[in-house]
Amino acid sequence: MQVESSGRPHNAGLTGGKAGRMERDFEGKVAVVTGTTGIGEGAALRLARGGASVCALGIDTAANARLAGMAREQGLVLQTIAADVSKAADVEKAFAETVARFGGIDVLVNCAGIQTYGTVVTTTLEDWDRVIDVNLKSIYLTGHFAIPYMIRRGGGAIVHIASVQGHACQRNVAGYAASKGAIHALTRSMALDHAKDNIRVNSVSPGSVRTPMLEFAARELGGPGQGMEDKIVEFGAKHPLGRVGTIEEIADLIAFLAGPHCGFCTGADFLADGGLKAGLSV
Ligand SMILES: NC(=O)c1ccc[n+]([C@@H]2O[C@H](COP(=O)([O-])OP(=O)(O)OC[C@H]3O[C@@H](n4cnc5c(N)ncnc54)[C@H](O)[C@@H]3O)[C@@H](O)[C@H]2O)c1
Repeated sequence: MQVESSGRPHNAGLTGGKAGRMERDFEGKVAVVTGTTGIGEGAALRLARGGASVCALGIDTAANARLAGMAREQGLVLQTIAADVSKAADVEKAFAETVARFGGIDVLVNCAGIQTYGTVVTTTLEDWDRVIDVNLKSIYLTGHFAIPYMIRRGGGAIVHIASVQGHACQRNVAGYAASKGAIHALTRSMALDHAKDNIRVNSVSPGSVRTPMLEFAARELGGPGQGMEDKIVEFGAKHPLGRVGTIEEIADLIAFLAGPHCGFCTGADFLADGGLKAGLSV
């Protein structure tokens, strides 16, 4: 398993930038984040700036190295681990490695995910299995391996990234929408089962957020002669706030849900969709 590290000692001090002004709301905590680009990258950096020691798990080794490099430049305690979160052996090993290095797990944030397109007729069996494995089975696997470590620490907080598409969806995203709706159900189930362990479990359902996934969608779905930027503006215009969200806006919500100011929230989904679900598309 390939590991990239910022090389800084556990909970070393921060210097400069936003980190200098930010509350150290994760001081002494250990966080695991899945996904090392987009929202996962933003969440990992936000938690590390808050004082957490972070292990970020990702399948994309180039992205892992890039994130570890960014953390190193910012003086953050953040290591990345190459792992396929749909594979039990990878997840088990990554959590064991996190605990060996940082002593336990307090926070888990599941951001790894893929987008597939198709109806139930046009979606191949391979695509269906892959989207359910990466988006949903990974949530089972990370919870399965992380929760026993959290119990040993006396509790913890888990945040899953679902999607507004788990509530109400577009056409042609059958597998993706099913995986995200199932995350809402699994969030409730995990919250009930582990409230007694002092573990809170919530989900975030973003609308369109500017990440590599959205840029890919903008390139795929753009009309003839329409550039990616124009398509992203078009996505944004569908949201009552008139724009797509930023990674930082989602990372701040994740940090709030995982942090000390959200102690009485569990089993809930939090929309961060620019008002998308509040309206009717008429
Ligand atoms: N960007 C949006 O508009 C949007 C909206 C709603 C929900 N989401 C959800 O947010 C989450 C993060 O997506 P993003 O927008 O940051 O896109 P992204 O593509 O930048 O991030 C997804 C990450 O998951 C990683 N990944 C994919 N398969 C993996 C696997 N098997 N094992 C480990 N890592 C794997 C990718 O390498 C990537 O780093 C996803 O679950 C996505 O469904 C995104």
